[in-house]
Amino acid sequence: MRLGAEGELVLIRAIRASDAAKLRDFHVRCSPESQYRRFFMHKPHLSTKEAEYFCNVDMRNRGAVVASDRDSHEGIHGIGQWDGLKGGRAEIALLVEDDLQGIGVGRRLLDAVLDHTRALGFWQLTGSILAGNGPIRRLLETSGYACSMGETDCGVQSFSLLTECAERDNPFLGDMLPRNVECSAAGLP
Ligand SMILES: CC(C)(COP(=O)(O)OP(=O)(O)OC[C@H]1O[C@@H](n2cnc3c(N)ncnc32)[C@H](O)[C@@H]1OP(=O)(O)O)[C@@H](O)C(=O)NCCC(=O)NCCS
Repeated sequence: MRLGAEGELVLIRAIRASDAAKLRDFHVRCSPESQYRRFFMHKPHLSTKEAEYFCNVDMRNRGAVVASDRDSHEGIHGIGQWDGLKGGRAEIALLVEDDLQGIGVGRRLLDAVLDHTRALGFWQLTGSILAGNGPIRRLLETSGYACSMGETDCGVQSFSLLTECAERDNPFLGDMLPRNVECSAAGLP
């Protein structure tokens, strides 16, 4: 099945607890280079425990969206994850199956993660990338939000995306999730 072209056949949906086996299959289909760029280590497989951890999320403090087959909503071809930190910050990470890279799936996953975390009140999204990882850098720098790259340390570079600069000084920042926004799989694109 052809997926991703023009975004026609990919559905971006919330991850489900029942996705663990599909997530492991997806991970195995990714090239060693993509796996390395995501995890910064040789990682040919996700363990069952890791997959279950990634799939069992509350979609608030921790969550993920996946690029799935539009018709069946079953197969997984990409994932965008966030992990809430203190002070309205969250760490994000993306991975797209190699055969579907370069056709806009990563951008749709990042947009969905940004929309969702922003609605939850996270104002700063951070993460780490390998220095020289052009595709993710390009994606972040053209996200529509202020992007800054940190120092490179041992080949790894941090990044920061500010989703709502004006909120940096607001009184909510002491909380993990400043706003009480209802969110569920149905609320995602
Ligand atoms: C980073 C990643 C998620 C991007 O996903 P993707 O589906 O290929 O991204 P898109 O197709 O939406 O492309 C996004 C932008 O990157 C650019 N891009 C995509 N592939 C590229 C490549 N091989 N070289 C240079 N630029 C590239 C595109 O031009 C696009 O910019 P545009 O919208 O202005 O044209 C994907 O490459 C990936 O999974 N990499 C391995 C894991 C990883 O690096 N994760 C990041 C650390 S957490």
